[in-house]
Amino acid sequence: MTQRTALVTGGTGGIGSAIVRYLAGQGHRVATNYRDPDKAEAWRKAMAADGIEVCMVQGDVCDPVACEAMIRAIEAKCGPVDILVNNAGITRDTTFHKMTYEQWTDVVNTNLNACFNVTRPVIEGMRARKWGRIVQISSINGQKGQYGQANYAAAKAGMHGFTISLAQENAKFGITVNTVSPGYVGTDMVMAVPEEVREKIVAQIPVGRLGRPDEIAHAVAFFTGDQASWITGANLAINGGHYMGW
Ligand code: CAA
Repeated sequence: MTQRTALVTGGTGGIGSAIVRYLAGQGHRVATNYRDPDKAEAWRKAMAADGIEVCMVQGDVCDPVACEAMIRAIEAKCGPVDILVNNAGITRDTTFHKMTYEQWTDVVNTNLNACFNVTRPVIEGMRARKWGRIVQISSINGQKGQYGQANYAAAKAGMHGFTISLAQENAKFGITVNTVSPGYVGTDMVMAVPEEVREKIVAQIPVGRLGRPDEIAHAVAFFTGDQASWITGANLAINGGHYMGW
C-alpha cells in the first residue's frame, strides 16, 4: 500500500480517534487539528504510547483563514494531504421552537461550513497531483431527520450534497468523494443523550446495540484505499440496521 498523508479533522474525538488509528495502522502519516492544547497533548501522548505518532496542528475548522494556515502547516510537516476525512462535528440538541441562532450557527459552522474551510485549501493540490480521497462523516440523522436536531440534521444532509457535487467536479482528477453516515455509536456525543431517551433509541436498532468507532473507521479506510478508485459520490450507512432508506 502506498504511504500517504491523511488529515482527519476532529481526530481527538470518539470516531475521529478510531479513524486516526485505522489509517495509521495502514501505514499512512496521519494529521489532525485541535483547539484545546491541553486536551490535545494528553491525547497525543496516549496515541504515542500505542506507537502512533500523529501530526498535530492547532486550528478551528470554523475559521477559513485558520484552516488555510493549518493545511500549509500540515503540508510543511508531513507532506501534501492526499486523504481528507471531514469528521469534526458537534451537537446542540434542542427542539426547533427553542433553538437559538447560536445553536443553529455553531452546528452548521462546525459540521458543514468546515467542509468548505478545510477542503478548499487541499483540493487544488489533489487535482494537480491527480489523486485524492475525501470522506465526509455525516450521520443517520442527516438521512432520516431527528427530533431535537433540526440544526444537526440540516448540516449532515448538506454534507452529502457537498459530497455528490465535489465527486462530479473532481472525478476526472483521480479524486473520489464519498460520505459515511454512522448511526448511534458509543462515543461521548451519544452518551450525552439523556439515558432514558438513549435507551429508546437503542431499542430501535435491529442489531441491538450501539456501534463501535472502529466499525466506522473500517468503512473510511475502505473508501480511502487505492482500490476504491471507482466508488465516488456514494453514501454508506453504517447504523446496525437503524435506518435502511436508499
Ligand atoms: N418523537 C416524538 N416525540 C418526542 C421525541 C420523538 N423522537 N423525542 C421527544 N419527544 C417528546 C417527548 O415525549 C416530550 O413530549 P411531552 O411534552 O408530550 O411529554 C417532548 O417531546 C419533550 O419536548 P421538549 O421540547 O420539552 O424537549 P426537551 O427539552 O425535553 O428535550 C431533546 C428534547 C433535546 C430533543 C431530547 O429528547 C433529546 O436529547 N433527544 C435525543 C436527540 C438525539 O437523538 N440526538 C443525537 C445525539 S448523538 C448524534 O447526533 C450522533 C449521530 O450522528 C447519531
